[in-house]
Amino acid sequence: MHKRYLIAGNWKMNGLKADLEEIAQTEKGAANATCDILVCPPSTLLPICIERFGSGKIAFGGQDCHAQTSGAFTGDISPKMLKEAGASYVIVGHSERRQYHHETNTDVKAKAEAALTAGLTPIICVGETKEQHEAGKQFDVVKTQLAESLPASQEIVIAYEPVWAIGTGLTPSSDDIATMHNSIRDFIGNDSIRLLYGGSVKGGNAKEILNLPNVDGALVGGASLKAKDFLEIVKAA
Ligand code: PGA
Repeated sequence: MHKRYLIAGNWKMNGLKADLEEIAQTEKGAANATCDILVCPPSTLLPICIERFGSGKIAFGGQDCHAQTSGAFTGDISPKMLKEAGASYVIVGHSERRQYHHETNTDVKAKAEAALTAGLTPIICVGETKEQHEAGKQFDVVKTQLAESLPASQEIVIAYEPVWAIGTGLTPSSDDIATMHNSIRDFIGNDSIRLLYGGSVKGGNAKEILNLPNVDGALVGGASLKAKDFLEIVKAA
C-alpha cells in the first residue's frame, strides 16, 4: 500500500497577519507535493487562512478545543467554532496543554470525542517526559495515554511526541522511533490510522524519520514557521 504522508505544522502561539506570507510561499512550493499538508495557526488567523488559502492544497486546523460546544468557558474555543471557521483538524492533548493546562487523558478523550462530533479529525498527542524516558517507562506511559485518551472512532490521527524532543533539537534514534511506532500500531491494531512522529523534525532528519515503518507523517513545531524549512520536510515526504 502506498503511504500518503500527513505533514502537519503546529504554529503554537506564533503568527501575525504578516506571517501569512509563509503560507503563501508554502503553497507555491508545495504545488507538486504528494503528501497531505496541514497548518494549525493560532485561532486568530484561521478565518483569514481559509479565506486566502482554503481552496488550495493546504488544510487548516486548530491547536486545541474545548470538550463542550458552547458555554461559560472564558478563553476557550469549541470544536464547532473551529469547524465553522473552516478547520478540518484539531490537535488535542499536546504535551504543552498537558503540562501547562494540566490536561488529563480523560480531558483529552473528551476533546477528541467533541472534535469528532463537530466533524473535525482530532490529532491526539502522546509521549513520555525526559524523566519517564530515563526510567525506561516510555512504553508503559504511552500505552496508558492511548488506553485513556483515544475515542472509539478510528477517524483519528495519533502523534507520538516525546516531550524531551520537542523544541530541543534532540530526537530519539531511528530504532527508538520505529520501536515505539510499531508498539503503538500493535496497541491500536488498525492499519488505517495515521501515526505521526513529532519532536525536532527538520529538513535534515525528515527523510530518515519518514522512511521508518509505521511513521505516516510528522507533526512539526519550530520548522513549520518558515516556508523554506517546512517545504524541506514536505519535499522529504
Ligand atoms: P518542534 O515541536 O518541532 O518545535 O520540536 C513539535 C511539536 O510540539 O508539535
